[in-house]
Amino acid sequence: MRSKNSKRILKASNQIDSLSHAYRHSQVLFAAFESGLLEFLATQEKLQIQDISDALKLSEKGLWRLLTALCALKITEKKGTFFILSDNFRTLFNPNSDKYLGGMIAHEIHLQKRWLQLSESLRNGLPVKKSEKPGSLQDTKRFINAMADLGRRSSTEVIKKIKLKGHEHILDLGGGPGAYVKAFCDHYSDVKITLFDQQDTIRFAKKKLNSHSGFKRMFFKEGDLLTETYGNNFDVIFISNVIHIFGKDDILTILNKCNMALKPSGRLWIKDFFINKRQTGPEFSALFSLHMLLSTADGNCYTISEIKDLLQKSGFNPGQKIKLKNKSKMLEGIKSSVLRKVK
Ligand SMILES: C[S@@+](CC[C@H](N)C(=O)[O-])C[C@H]1O[C@@H](n2cnc3c(N)ncnc32)[C@H](O)[C@@H]1O
Repeated sequence: MRSKNSKRILKASNQIDSLSHAYRHSQVLFAAFESGLLEFLATQEKLQIQDISDALKLSEKGLWRLLTALCALKITEKKGTFFILSDNFRTLFNPNSDKYLGGMIAHEIHLQKRWLQLSESLRNGLPVKKSEKPGSLQDTKRFINAMADLGRRSSTEVIKKIKLKGHEHILDLGGGPGAYVKAFCDHYSDVKITLFDQQDTIRFAKKKLNSHSGFKRMFFKEGDLLTETYGNNFDVIFISNVIHIFGKDDILTILNKCNMALKPSGRLWIKDFFINKRQTGPEFSALFSLHMLLSTADGNCYTISEIKDLLQKSGFNPGQKIKLKNKSKMLEGIKSSVLRKVK
């Protein structure tokens, strides 16, 4: 009996050990990225330590330790006297690859400063003061690049799961860099799609999209999604990773506006990180709720039934629920009654 108990305590203490050290893993990744090492290894062949330290202006002593840690984490490998990135990582750190994740890592490096202030946010229940003016261009660019990396990764799966006839007009609300706009246009040769977002974001999105063969079918609308109208006669509205930024009153305002922008029987797809009914997980959503505490006035991760309730209040019947890879779910809303005024 006692030995069973002590095994359980040992397991718990190992778990705490791992959690307390977890930041070291992130720091190794961040330093390897910030120093340029990961991109260098991803784009060059046959590198010895001396070549790397000269090119990146790193001390050999520090570089050895970093590469040893990266080998232990199975991100790099040592082949004789050469260092290489392990299989699969080369494509993730090559800036010319469509699987590149550098934008996402740069964003996380920035966010960790926010997480260091978690205790203060827990005390006052407020988001932390940001180091840059909210909405500064640098801030927007870093954020948008991260969204582009993540959007590219999940857009193929999302587009396959939202079944369209192929000639609809879609509104991508808070569409960011336009990863989903591009994916919809790639998949359907006759859809039209409008990307709605804030002014600076639209500027970045246009730059990313203007060489696409379907650019003529892409439309752009700038504004604040809480105050602006979205247009009308859309067949489908897609809202990915937007509702978690807002509290329930604001989400209701957004859904009411969606109702008014859709044709009768139009459909809405909400993609987000949902929390389970008992509010105990999944782990990614639970931690993301804390991230929203640090970053927004009222944002949160919601349960499916909380969002179904808001859909019903804004004239939608909840439809399909789809589980996606990459920690998200999608919930469909089918317009059932016509709202004439936003409450
Ligand atoms: C987390 S990103 C999601 C981007 C994209 N939908 C995706 O899934 O990759 C949230 C987007 O909502 C936009 N957004 C946030 N608040 C907004 C507001 N009040 N008005 C317009 N857009 C807003 C941001 O600019 C950003 O592009």
